[in-house]
Amino acid sequence: EEAIKRQPLVNIGTAGHVDHGKTTLIQALTGIWASHHSEELKRGITLKIGYADTAIYQCPKCPPPQKYYTSANLPEDMRCRYCGTPLEYVRKVSFVDVPGHEMLMSIMLAGAAMMDAALLVIDATKECPQPQTREHFTALSIIGVRKLVVIQNKIDIVSRERAKESYKEIRRFLEGTWAESAPIIPVSALHRANIDALVWALEKYVPIPQRDHTLPPKMLVARSFDVNKPGTPVSELAGGVLGGTVIQGKFRVGDEIEIRPGLKVKKGGQEVYEPLYTTITSLKSGNEPLEVAYPGGLIAIGTELDPSITKADNLIGNVVGKPGTLPEPLYDLEVEIHLLERVVGAEQPLKVEPLKTNEVIMLNVGTSLSVGTVTSARSDSVHLKLKIPVVAGSGTRVALSRQIAGRWRLIGYGFIK
Ligand code: GTP
Ligand code: MG
Ligand code: MG
Repeated sequence: EEAIKRQPLVNIGTAGHVDHGKTTLIQALTGIWASHHSEELKRGITLKIGYADTAIYQCPKCPPPQKYYTSANLPEDMRCRYCGTPLEYVRKVSFVDVPGHEMLMSIMLAGAAMMDAALLVIDATKECPQPQTREHFTALSIIGVRKLVVIQNKIDIVSRERAKESYKEIRRFLEGTWAESAPIIPVSALHRANIDALVWALEKYVPIPQRDHTLPPKMLVARSFDVNKPGTPVSELAGGVLGGTVIQGKFRVGDEIEIRPGLKVKKGGQEVYEPLYTTITSLKSGNEPLEVAYPGGLIAIGTELDPSITKADNLIGNVVGKPGTLPEPLYDLEVEIHLLERVVGAEQPLKVEPLKTNEVIMLNVGTSLSVGTVTSARSDSVHLKLKIPVVAGSGTRVALSRQIAGRWRLIGYGFIK
């Protein structure tokens, strides 16, 4: 279907310890530096969810891996660099880039909620696993991402011996897990070496997921923007824009939508959230306008909302659906809990202590983040009172974190009862 060709239909995320080369890898694959906020550029670390798409092409005559090309290294004449045959379009894929810094675990968890598959990036110069290698891998496990390609990065600056040792460390780390037989692809993201082999692995191990387009549409909001330049006259202002991923069903231009939990308002001295209602005025995948948005890549929805509502990521964590189809926001919930044996994100693995009454914990549900107080705790379930409500039905998976020595650390997961 021609329309479908324009939109990436699979979201591939990054995961891995800070500075192991996630954003550099996405640049090697897409040609785009997905981490461009001024603060990110200054500090050299990723702070927010980044995204970039690429199109994959292949030479119909050459063998893999060299038959594969992406938008980042496409010859201008669209012919194979080795044999001159015209290249064929394969598909578009989206990448979701997350930060590796230990302080930014909640952002990684929000990103992971949008991933169909992940690239676990490991710096071959460092012993494996590093703390966020463990914690991100655990996050993928908890959230239910079950397609993994492991990237052994920075291969340009390791000896043959170290490369072999690093490979063994990675295999040992994955042994006995769901990702035991995941492919490990050695690359240099910086020098764009062996990226064709990575694309080959994506073609082999990351198919487009089966989706049910008849389900009521639902989108998770990962970013929100005011796209107007300062000083634009009010009559010319473009409405607020929501960025995120459709997780089920499909949206069309002209659809009425509901956004929950919506806006925080004061009512009788209490803070409550009220849903927002608007119409989709445009849909975009990268720079490509769409009539219909399907699950898969990151998309942007143009709306008639006042851009001051959507500016500066104000609506992160909201859920978009057709009016009347989304669950009621929950301020109070009972969660069936599964705690990890150990806190994996700290330098030294610690035992996870049981949850206690009055303890404050962090919950990630989809792209949303909330903080809740435990009002009663048993070994297999807890009752929580939330500051920010979550929009999720019974059975929804949540990631649980606790503050340990000033850092939020992943301690387990649960299901909303
Ligand atoms: P965070 O998002 O902050 O977790 O970092 P990151 O994993 O995105 O790492 P980033 O891509 O920012 O790269 C970190 C540093 O490693 C940069 O200085 C890169 O130039 C360098 N780097 C990345 N890939 C390679 C590689 O293949 N070889 C070498 N030599 N350096 C690399
Ligand atoms: Mg980065
Ligand atoms: Mg960095």
